[in-house]
Amino acid sequence: MTGDLFTGLARDPSMETLTEGALLLRAFVDEDEAIRLMAAIDTVLEASPLRHMQTPGGFRMSVAMSNCGRYGWVTDRRGYRYQSRDPLVERDWPAMPSLFAALAGRAAAAAGFAGFDPDACLINRYEPAARMSLHQDKNELDMTQPIVSVSLGLPATFLFGGMARTDKPQRMRLESGDVVVWGGPARLAFHGIDPLREGEHALTGRCRYNLTFRRAR
Ligand code: SIN
Ligand code: FE2
Repeated sequence: MTGDLFTGLARDPSMETLTEGALLLRAFVDEDEAIRLMAAIDTVLEASPLRHMQTPGGFRMSVAMSNCGRYGWVTDRRGYRYQSRDPLVERDWPAMPSLFAALAGRAAAAAGFAGFDPDACLINRYEPAARMSLHQDKNELDMTQPIVSVSLGLPATFLFGGMARTDKPQRMRLESGDVVVWGGPARLAFHGIDPLREGEHALTGRCRYNLTFRRAR
């Protein structure tokens, strides 16, 4: 059991199956690793700052985003895609920190997906009221590779649905250190995040960070 520096509450790691191919690894990241991850996020964001991207339909996303790794996920009026350059600073995305890749591989293996080697890490920052509507991650080439999604900071309500947008999603609270992995038959499951509630977290302040690891190419 690891004590939590921030809340004083202890959380035991545990694993929960959401559906075949989808697992929630609670408290997979302990507070020491969370602190190291946040420091690495800050370093990445110095090179490629957070920005609110535009959807193809012209809406400003409420979640602020950046990327690291060989490819970064972007959206603008031209559509959703991966590209090796950060369009904001007009340089390649920062390299993926080795502790990011190691965590992604460890979490994927724990969920039954050995050998996951992500080439893309999307960094999402939610401030209160920011949300992500139900969507599928489907801009990647190799659908045999899972998605690994790490939560840091303020808690959020995660929606995990089925293969159709209209399938009623399960709702679960994700806390700092929780990791969700989905792949195989669940790879194209619809998922999203409810509007973030107001709060303050010792690790991140008034926000939640999410790292989404993917094999893009
Ligand atoms: C995403 O689907 O890109 C983000 C999910 C999350 O923030 O947990
Ligand atoms: Fe997603």
